[in-house]
Amino acid sequence: MSALISITGGTPLQGRVRTEGAKNSCLPIIAATLLCEEQVVLHDIPALEDVLTMCQVLNFLGVETEYTPEEKKLTVFAGSMSSVEAPYALVRKMRASFLVIGPLLARFGRARVSLPGGCAIGIRPIDLHLKGLKAMGAEVIIGHGFIETVADKLHGERIYLDFPSVGATENIMMAAVLAEGITTIENAAEEPEVVDLARFINAMGGRVVGAGTDTIRIHGVTSLHSAEHTVIPDRIEAGTFMVAAAITGGEITVENVIPAHMVPLIAKLKEAGCDVIEEEALIHIRRNGPVRAVDIKTLPYPGFPTDLQSQMMALLTLAKGTSVITESVFENRFMHVDELRRMGAQIKIEGHCAVVAGRDKIFGAPVKATDLRAGAALTLAGLAAQGCTEIGAVHHIDRGYWHFTEKIAALGAQISRCE
Ligand code: EPZ
Repeated sequence: MSALISITGGTPLQGRVRTEGAKNSCLPIIAATLLCEEQVVLHDIPALEDVLTMCQVLNFLGVETEYTPEEKKLTVFAGSMSSVEAPYALVRKMRASFLVIGPLLARFGRARVSLPGGCAIGIRPIDLHLKGLKAMGAEVIIGHGFIETVADKLHGERIYLDFPSVGATENIMMAAVLAEGITTIENAAEEPEVVDLARFINAMGGRVVGAGTDTIRIHGVTSLHSAEHTVIPDRIEAGTFMVAAAITGGEITVENVIPAHMVPLIAKLKEAGCDVIEEEALIHIRRNGPVRAVDIKTLPYPGFPTDLQSQMMALLTLAKGTSVITESVFENRFMHVDELRRMGAQIKIEGHCAVVAGRDKIFGAPVKATDLRAGAALTLAGLAAQGCTEIGAVHHIDRGYWHFTEKIAALGAQISRCE
Protein backbone atom coordinates (compact mmCIF):
# COMPACT_ATOMS: atom_id res chain seq x y z
CA MET A 1 0.00 0.00 0.00
CA SER A 2 1.50 3.36 -0.95
CA ALA A 3 1.17 6.04 1.67
CA LEU A 4 1.91 9.75 1.58
CA ILE A 5 3.35 12.04 4.23
CA SER A 6 2.36 15.72 4.08
CA ILE A 7 4.36 18.34 5.96
CA THR A 8 4.03 22.09 6.32
CA GLY A 9 7.51 23.21 7.31
CA GLY A 10 8.73 25.91 9.66
CA THR A 11 7.79 24.73 13.17
CA PRO A 12 10.72 24.26 15.58
CA LEU A 13 10.36 20.86 17.31
CA GLN A 14 9.93 20.90 21.08
CA GLY A 15 9.45 18.16 23.65
CA ARG A 16 10.52 14.60 24.47
CA VAL A 17 10.69 11.53 22.24
CA ARG A 18 11.51 7.90 23.13
CA THR A 19 13.74 5.76 20.94
CA GLU A 20 12.66 2.19 20.16
CA GLY A 21 14.78 -0.96 20.25
CA ALA A 22 17.38 -1.07 17.47
CA LYS A 23 16.15 -2.52 14.16
CA ASN A 24 19.68 -3.63 13.29
CA SER A 25 19.91 -5.52 16.57
CA CYS A 26 16.44 -7.08 16.28
CA LEU A 27 17.06 -8.63 12.88
CA PRO A 28 20.26 -10.61 13.61
CA ILE A 29 19.01 -11.48 17.11
CA ILE A 30 15.72 -12.89 15.77
CA ALA A 31 17.78 -14.94 13.28
CA ALA A 32 19.98 -16.15 16.15
CA THR A 33 16.95 -17.64 17.95
CA LEU A 34 17.17 -20.44 15.35
CA LEU A 35 20.27 -21.66 17.18
CA CYS A 36 18.27 -22.54 20.30
CA GLU A 37 15.89 -25.49 20.78
CA GLU A 38 14.26 -23.85 23.78
CA GLN A 39 11.97 -20.82 24.02
CA VAL A 40 13.52 -17.35 24.12
CA VAL A 41 11.92 -14.01 24.97
CA LEU A 42 13.02 -10.70 23.41
CA HIS A 43 12.04 -7.31 24.84
CA ASP A 44 11.76 -3.79 23.37
CA ILE A 45 11.14 -5.19 19.90
CA PRO A 46 9.38 -2.52 17.78
CA ALA A 47 6.62 -3.54 15.36
CA LEU A 48 8.68 -2.55 12.30
CA GLU A 49 7.97 -3.93 8.84
CA ASP A 50 11.43 -5.51 8.80
CA VAL A 51 10.86 -7.17 12.18
CA LEU A 52 7.56 -8.63 10.99
CA THR A 53 9.26 -9.84 7.79
CA MET A 54 11.97 -11.60 9.78
CA CYS A 55 9.25 -13.27 11.87
CA GLN A 56 7.59 -14.40 8.61
CA VAL A 57 10.89 -15.97 7.55
CA LEU A 58 11.02 -17.91 10.84
CA ASN A 59 7.38 -18.94 10.46
CA PHE A 60 8.16 -20.20 6.95
CA LEU A 61 10.85 -22.36 8.54
CA GLY A 62 8.23 -23.79 10.89
CA VAL A 63 9.25 -21.72 13.91
CA GLU A 64 6.59 -20.45 16.33
CA THR A 65 6.73 -16.72 17.06
CA GLU A 66 4.38 -14.70 19.23
CA TYR A 67 4.54 -10.90 19.22
CA THR A 68 2.66 -8.76 21.75
CA PRO A 69 2.73 -5.17 20.40
CA GLU A 70 1.62 -3.50 23.62
CA GLU A 71 4.55 -5.05 25.48
CA LYS A 72 6.91 -4.91 22.47
CA LYS A 73 7.74 -8.49 23.38
CA LEU A 74 8.62 -11.30 20.97
CA THR A 75 8.59 -14.94 22.08
CA VAL A 76 10.26 -17.47 19.78
CA PHE A 77 10.19 -21.24 20.02
CA ALA A 78 12.50 -22.82 17.44
CA GLY A 79 12.35 -26.29 18.99
CA SER A 80 10.58 -27.84 16.05
CA MET A 81 11.30 -26.67 12.51
CA SER A 82 9.93 -28.05 9.27
CA SER A 83 12.18 -26.40 6.69
CA VAL A 84 15.61 -24.91 6.16
CA GLU A 85 14.60 -22.75 3.20
CA ALA A 86 14.11 -18.97 3.14
CA PRO A 87 12.06 -18.12 0.04
CA TYR A 88 12.77 -15.46 -2.56
CA ALA A 89 9.54 -13.60 -1.80
CA LEU A 90 10.75 -12.83 1.72
CA VAL A 91 14.49 -12.45 1.07
CA ARG A 92 13.66 -10.06 -1.80
CA LYS A 93 11.70 -7.90 0.63
CA MET A 94 14.52 -7.71 3.10
CA ARG A 95 18.18 -8.48 2.55
CA ALA A 96 18.67 -9.16 6.27
CA SER A 97 16.68 -12.42 5.79
CA PHE A 98 20.03 -13.74 4.59
CA LEU A 99 21.16 -13.73 8.21
CA VAL A 100 19.31 -17.04 8.77
CA ILE A 101 21.88 -18.93 6.71
CA GLY A 102 24.51 -19.00 9.48
CA PRO A 103 22.23 -20.28 12.27
CA LEU A 104 20.52 -22.83 9.98
CA LEU A 105 23.88 -24.21 8.91
CA ALA A 106 25.09 -24.32 12.51
CA ARG A 107 22.05 -26.15 13.86
CA PHE A 108 20.94 -28.35 10.94
CA GLY A 109 23.99 -28.56 8.68
CA ARG A 110 21.89 -27.29 5.78
CA ALA A 111 20.35 -24.09 4.49
CA ARG A 112 18.73 -23.00 1.24
CA VAL A 113 18.34 -19.24 1.01
CA SER A 114 17.41 -17.11 -1.95
CA LEU A 115 20.10 -14.75 -3.18
CA PRO A 116 19.30 -11.39 -1.58
CA GLY A 117 19.54 -9.38 -4.77
CA GLY A 118 20.47 -5.74 -4.89
CA CYS A 119 18.68 -2.77 -3.38
CA ALA A 120 18.55 0.99 -3.80
CA ILE A 121 21.83 1.66 -2.03
CA GLY A 122 24.10 -0.67 -3.98
CA ILE A 123 24.69 -4.22 -5.12
CA ARG A 124 25.19 -5.43 -1.52
CA PRO A 125 27.29 -8.58 -2.26
CA ILE A 126 27.54 -11.53 0.12
CA ASP A 127 31.01 -12.78 -0.82
CA LEU A 128 32.40 -12.22 2.69
CA HIS A 129 29.52 -14.16 4.25
CA LEU A 130 30.23 -17.12 1.94
CA LYS A 131 34.03 -16.85 2.42
CA GLY A 132 33.54 -17.38 6.15
CA LEU A 133 31.06 -20.24 5.84
CA LYS A 134 33.25 -22.07 3.31
CA ALA A 135 36.31 -21.62 5.55
CA MET A 136 34.37 -23.36 8.33
CA GLY A 137 33.70 -26.36 6.11
CA ALA A 138 30.43 -25.54 4.39
CA GLU A 139 29.91 -26.52 0.78
CA VAL A 140 28.21 -23.66 -1.06
CA ILE A 141 26.30 -24.15 -4.31
CA ILE A 142 24.77 -21.17 -6.08
CA GLY A 143 22.14 -21.73 -8.75
CA HIS A 144 18.66 -20.79 -9.87
CA GLY A 145 18.70 -17.72 -7.63
CA PHE A 146 19.34 -19.76 -4.51
CA ILE A 147 22.30 -20.50 -2.30
CA GLU A 148 22.48 -24.05 -0.97
CA THR A 149 24.91 -24.72 1.84
CA VAL A 150 25.69 -28.07 3.39
CA ALA A 151 28.10 -29.01 6.18
CA ASP A 152 28.36 -32.23 8.21
CA LYS A 153 29.89 -30.29 11.07
CA LEU A 154 31.27 -26.76 10.91
CA HIS A 155 34.75 -26.41 12.39
CA GLY A 156 36.40 -23.35 13.91
CA GLU A 157 38.60 -21.29 11.60
CA ARG A 158 40.51 -18.05 11.46
CA ILE A 159 38.63 -15.75 9.04
CA TYR A 160 39.79 -12.34 7.81
CA LEU A 161 37.12 -9.98 6.48
CA ASP A 162 38.36 -7.82 3.61
CA PHE A 163 35.81 -5.25 4.76
CA PRO A 164 34.36 -5.07 8.31
CA SER A 165 30.95 -6.12 7.04
CA VAL A 166 28.23 -6.04 9.73
CA GLY A 167 26.18 -8.83 8.15
CA ALA A 168 29.14 -11.04 7.39
CA THR A 169 30.44 -10.65 10.95
CA GLU A 170 27.01 -11.57 12.33
CA ASN A 171 26.40 -14.52 9.97
CA ILE A 172 29.83 -16.03 10.65
CA MET A 173 29.48 -15.43 14.40
CA MET A 174 26.16 -17.31 14.44
CA ALA A 175 27.53 -20.14 12.30
CA ALA A 176 30.48 -20.52 14.71
CA VAL A 177 28.41 -20.80 17.91
CA LEU A 178 27.85 -24.58 17.57
CA ALA A 179 30.96 -25.37 15.51
CA GLU A 180 33.82 -27.61 16.68
CA GLY A 181 36.66 -25.53 18.06
CA ILE A 182 37.39 -21.81 18.03
CA THR A 183 36.56 -19.36 15.23
CA THR A 184 38.39 -16.05 15.04
CA ILE A 185 36.95 -13.24 12.93
CA GLU A 186 39.60 -10.65 12.07
CA ASN A 187 38.78 -7.15 10.82
CA ALA A 188 35.31 -7.78 12.28
CA ALA A 189 32.58 -5.13 12.38
CA GLU A 190 32.53 -3.29 15.72
CA GLU A 191 28.98 -1.91 15.59
CA PRO A 192 26.96 -1.86 18.87
CA GLU A 193 24.41 -4.15 17.21
CA VAL A 194 27.16 -6.77 16.74
CA VAL A 195 27.89 -6.49 20.48
CA ASP A 196 24.18 -6.81 21.24
CA LEU A 197 23.98 -10.02 19.18
CA ALA A 198 27.01 -11.44 21.00
CA ARG A 199 25.42 -10.62 24.36
CA PHE A 200 22.24 -12.45 23.33
CA ILE A 201 24.20 -15.49 22.12
CA ASN A 202 26.14 -15.58 25.40
CA ALA A 203 22.87 -15.26 27.36
CA MET A 204 21.80 -18.50 25.62
CA GLY A 205 25.05 -20.17 26.71
CA GLY A 206 27.23 -19.34 23.72
CA ARG A 207 30.85 -18.25 24.16
CA VAL A 208 31.58 -15.10 22.11
CA VAL A 209 34.53 -12.97 23.20
CA GLY A 210 35.78 -9.66 21.80
CA ALA A 211 32.59 -8.35 20.18
CA GLY A 212 32.99 -4.59 19.76
CA THR A 213 36.63 -4.96 18.76
CA ASP A 214 38.07 -5.89 15.36
CA THR A 215 38.85 -9.43 16.56
CA ILE A 216 36.04 -11.68 17.74
CA ARG A 217 36.57 -15.23 19.07
CA ILE A 218 33.74 -17.74 19.18
CA HIS A 219 34.30 -20.95 21.19
CA GLY A 220 31.95 -23.61 19.82
CA VAL A 221 29.49 -25.18 22.30
CA THR A 222 27.20 -28.20 21.89
CA SER A 223 23.84 -26.57 22.53
CA LEU A 224 22.14 -23.42 23.80
CA HIS A 225 19.42 -22.84 26.40
CA SER A 226 16.50 -20.48 26.96
CA ALA A 227 17.18 -16.80 27.58
CA GLU A 228 15.53 -13.38 27.83
CA HIS A 229 17.12 -10.33 26.21
CA THR A 230 16.33 -6.64 25.78
CA VAL A 231 17.72 -5.10 22.62
CA ILE A 232 19.73 -1.86 22.77
CA PRO A 233 18.15 1.46 21.73
CA ASP A 234 18.22 2.36 18.06
CA ARG A 235 21.08 4.86 17.63
CA ILE A 236 19.94 5.66 14.08
CA GLU A 237 16.38 6.49 15.09
CA ALA A 238 17.73 8.59 17.98
CA GLY A 239 20.11 10.35 15.61
CA THR A 240 17.31 11.02 13.15
CA PHE A 241 15.32 12.85 15.83
CA MET A 242 18.40 14.80 16.92
CA VAL A 243 18.89 16.04 13.37
CA ALA A 244 15.17 16.88 13.23
CA ALA A 245 15.67 19.21 16.21
CA ALA A 246 18.74 20.76 14.59
CA ILE A 247 17.15 21.35 11.17
CA THR A 248 14.01 22.97 12.65
CA GLY A 249 15.92 25.09 15.17
CA GLY A 250 14.05 23.38 17.98
CA GLU A 251 14.96 21.86 21.32
CA ILE A 252 14.16 18.23 22.24
CA THR A 253 15.09 15.49 24.68
CA VAL A 254 15.64 11.98 23.33
CA GLU A 255 14.93 9.19 25.85
CA ASN A 256 16.12 5.58 25.84
CA VAL A 257 19.42 6.29 24.14
CA ILE A 258 23.06 5.27 24.79
CA PRO A 259 25.14 8.45 24.27
CA ALA A 260 28.32 6.36 23.88
CA HIS A 261 26.82 4.95 20.65
CA MET A 262 26.25 8.46 19.28
CA VAL A 263 29.75 9.99 19.48
CA PRO A 264 30.30 10.85 15.78
CA LEU A 265 26.84 12.38 15.35
CA ILE A 266 27.09 14.40 18.59
CA ALA A 267 30.48 15.73 17.51
CA LYS A 268 29.20 16.73 14.06
CA LEU A 269 26.02 18.34 15.41
CA LYS A 270 28.10 20.40 17.85
CA GLU A 271 30.36 21.49 14.95
CA ALA A 272 27.21 22.38 13.00
CA GLY A 273 25.99 24.72 15.73
CA CYS A 274 24.08 22.68 18.30
CA ASP A 275 24.31 22.37 22.08
CA VAL A 276 24.17 18.69 23.05
CA ILE A 277 23.91 17.61 26.69
CA GLU A 278 24.34 13.91 27.46
CA GLU A 279 22.93 12.12 30.49
CA GLU A 280 22.84 8.41 31.43
CA ALA A 281 20.11 7.46 28.98
CA LEU A 282 19.03 10.87 27.68
CA ILE A 283 20.31 13.41 25.18
CA HIS A 284 19.15 17.04 25.15
CA ILE A 285 19.77 18.95 21.93
CA ARG A 286 19.08 22.44 20.67
CA ARG A 287 20.50 24.64 17.98
CA ASN A 288 22.46 27.68 19.25
CA GLY A 289 22.61 29.79 16.10
CA PRO A 290 22.77 29.33 12.32
CA VAL A 291 23.66 25.90 10.90
CA ARG A 292 27.37 25.77 10.18
CA ALA A 293 28.85 23.79 7.27
CA VAL A 294 30.70 20.63 8.32
CA ASP A 295 32.44 17.86 6.39
CA ILE A 296 31.25 14.27 6.94
CA LYS A 297 32.90 10.99 5.96
CA THR A 298 30.94 7.81 6.61
CA LEU A 299 32.95 4.88 7.96
CA PRO A 300 32.38 1.57 9.69
CA TYR A 301 31.79 1.98 13.47
CA PRO A 302 33.12 3.88 15.40
CA GLY A 303 33.19 6.23 12.40
CA PHE A 304 30.25 8.33 11.28
CA PRO A 305 27.36 5.94 10.45
CA THR A 306 26.29 5.70 6.83
CA ASP A 307 22.68 5.31 8.06
CA LEU A 308 22.74 8.95 9.22
CA GLN A 309 24.40 10.36 6.10
CA SER A 310 21.23 11.38 4.27
CA GLN A 311 19.74 12.97 7.39
CA MET A 312 22.88 15.11 7.89
CA MET A 313 22.81 16.07 4.22
CA ALA A 314 19.29 17.43 4.67
CA LEU A 315 20.54 19.58 7.56
CA LEU A 316 23.58 20.83 5.66
CA THR A 317 21.49 22.05 2.72
CA LEU A 318 20.64 24.95 5.09
CA ALA A 319 24.16 25.58 6.41
CA LYS A 320 26.19 28.77 6.09
CA GLY A 321 28.91 27.59 3.73
CA THR A 322 29.77 24.47 1.76
CA SER A 323 29.95 20.95 3.21
CA VAL A 324 31.56 17.87 1.69
CA ILE A 325 29.92 14.52 2.45
CA THR A 326 31.92 11.40 1.54
CA GLU A 327 30.03 8.08 1.45
CA SER A 328 32.68 5.39 1.82
CA VAL A 329 30.57 2.42 2.99
CA PHE A 330 28.08 1.98 0.11
CA GLU A 331 28.72 2.72 -3.53
CA ASN A 332 25.36 4.28 -4.30
CA ARG A 333 23.85 6.00 -1.29
CA PHE A 334 23.08 9.40 -2.79
CA MET A 335 19.62 8.53 -4.14
CA HIS A 336 18.14 11.23 -1.91
CA VAL A 337 20.18 13.98 -3.63
CA ASP A 338 17.86 14.32 -6.64
CA GLU A 339 14.87 14.60 -4.30
CA LEU A 340 16.57 17.22 -2.11
CA ARG A 341 17.46 19.16 -5.26
CA ARG A 342 13.74 19.29 -6.09
CA MET A 343 13.38 21.20 -2.81
CA GLY A 344 15.98 23.75 -3.91
CA ALA A 345 19.04 22.17 -2.30
CA GLN A 346 22.30 22.93 -4.10
CA ILE A 347 24.23 19.65 -4.21
CA LYS A 348 26.86 18.44 -6.66
CA ILE A 349 27.97 14.81 -6.74
CA GLU A 350 31.59 14.04 -7.56
CA GLY A 351 32.13 10.28 -7.30
CA HIS A 352 31.73 9.25 -3.64
CA CYS A 353 31.46 12.88 -2.54
CA ALA A 354 28.46 15.18 -2.38
CA VAL A 355 29.33 18.87 -2.24
CA VAL A 356 26.49 20.70 -0.48
CA ALA A 357 26.36 24.47 -0.96
CA GLY A 358 24.19 25.63 1.93
CA ARG A 359 21.48 28.20 1.32
CA ASP A 360 19.02 30.19 3.44
CA LYS A 361 15.91 28.32 2.39
CA ILE A 362 14.66 25.14 0.84
CA PHE A 363 11.12 24.81 -0.46
CA GLY A 364 8.34 22.28 -0.06
CA ALA A 365 7.80 20.01 -3.09
CA PRO A 366 6.40 16.58 -3.99
CA VAL A 367 9.27 14.08 -3.47
CA LYS A 368 9.70 10.31 -3.21
CA ALA A 369 11.48 8.11 -0.70
CA THR A 370 13.96 5.78 -2.43
CA ASP A 371 15.07 3.90 0.67
CA LEU A 372 14.54 3.87 4.38
CA ARG A 373 16.99 6.56 5.44
CA ALA A 374 16.36 8.72 2.34
CA GLY A 375 12.69 8.81 3.36
CA ALA A 376 13.70 9.97 6.83
CA ALA A 377 15.98 12.65 5.35
CA LEU A 378 13.23 13.99 3.09
CA THR A 379 10.92 14.19 6.10
CA LEU A 380 13.52 16.26 7.96
CA ALA A 381 13.95 18.53 4.93
CA GLY A 382 10.17 18.97 4.74
CA LEU A 383 10.08 20.00 8.42
CA ALA A 384 12.41 22.91 7.64
CA ALA A 385 11.23 23.76 4.11
CA GLN A 386 9.10 26.78 3.30
CA GLY A 387 5.63 25.55 2.34
CA CYS A 388 4.22 22.05 1.93
CA THR A 389 6.14 18.87 1.13
CA GLU A 390 4.51 15.59 0.10
CA ILE A 391 6.62 12.45 0.37
CA GLY A 392 5.58 9.33 -1.58
CA ALA A 393 6.66 5.68 -1.15
CA VAL A 394 6.86 6.10 2.60
CA HIS A 395 6.49 2.34 3.08
CA HIS A 396 10.30 2.48 3.02
CA ILE A 397 10.16 4.50 6.24
CA ASP A 398 7.91 1.92 7.92
CA ARG A 399 10.69 -0.64 7.54
CA GLY A 400 12.84 1.06 10.17
CA TYR A 401 10.83 3.69 12.03
CA TRP A 402 7.91 2.87 14.33
CA HIS A 403 5.16 5.56 14.51
CA PHE A 404 7.52 8.00 12.77
CA THR A 405 4.97 10.65 11.82
CA GLU A 406 3.15 10.31 15.17
CA LYS A 407 6.36 10.89 17.10
CA ILE A 408 7.28 13.93 14.99
CA ALA A 409 3.74 15.35 15.27
CA ALA A 410 3.97 14.94 19.06
CA LEU A 411 7.01 17.25 18.91
CA GLY A 412 4.83 19.97 17.37
CA ALA A 413 5.39 19.51 13.65
CA GLN A 414 2.60 20.02 11.11
CA ILE A 415 2.84 16.52 9.65
CA SER A 416 0.23 13.96 8.65
CA ARG A 417 0.06 10.67 6.81
CA CYS A 418 -2.60 9.43 4.45
CA GLU A 419 -2.74 5.93 2.94
C1 EPZ B 1 24.06 -3.41 7.90
O1 EPZ B 1 23.87 -3.81 6.56
C2 EPZ B 1 22.84 -2.61 8.27
N1 EPZ B 1 21.65 -3.46 8.16
C3 EPZ B 1 22.71 -1.40 7.33
O2 EPZ B 1 21.58 -0.64 7.75
C4 EPZ B 1 23.97 -0.55 7.49
O3 EPZ B 1 23.91 0.52 6.59
C5 EPZ B 1 25.21 -1.41 7.19
O4 EPZ B 1 25.22 -2.57 8.04
C6 EPZ B 1 26.50 -0.65 7.41
O5 EPZ B 1 26.56 -0.19 8.72
C7 EPZ B 1 21.40 -4.34 9.16
O6 EPZ B 1 22.14 -4.46 10.12
C8 EPZ B 1 20.16 -5.18 9.01
P1 EPZ B 1 27.64 -4.42 5.41
P2 EPZ B 1 24.87 -4.90 5.88
O7 EPZ B 1 27.71 -5.88 5.12
O8 EPZ B 1 25.26 -5.92 6.90
C9 EPZ B 1 30.16 -4.54 1.45
C10 EPZ B 1 19.57 0.56 7.48
O9 EPZ B 1 19.25 1.59 6.88
N2 EPZ B 1 30.07 -6.01 1.55
O10 EPZ B 1 28.40 -3.88 6.57
O11 EPZ B 1 24.26 -5.34 4.63
C11 EPZ B 1 28.83 -3.96 1.01
O12 EPZ B 1 28.73 -3.99 -0.40
C12 EPZ B 1 20.48 -0.46 6.82
O13 EPZ B 1 19.19 0.25 8.65
C13 EPZ B 1 30.84 -6.80 0.71
O14 EPZ B 1 31.59 -6.29 -0.12
O15 EPZ B 1 26.12 -3.97 5.57
C14 EPZ B 1 28.88 -2.55 1.53
O16 EPZ B 1 29.55 -1.74 0.60
C15 EPZ B 1 20.94 0.00 5.44
N3 EPZ B 1 30.74 -8.15 0.79
C16 EPZ B 1 29.75 -2.68 2.80
O17 EPZ B 1 30.37 -3.97 2.74
C17 EPZ B 1 29.92 -8.76 1.70
O18 EPZ B 1 29.89 -10.01 1.76
C18 EPZ B 1 28.94 -2.61 4.08
O19 EPZ B 1 28.03 -3.65 4.06
C19 EPZ B 1 29.15 -7.95 2.55
C20 EPZ B 1 29.25 -6.59 2.46
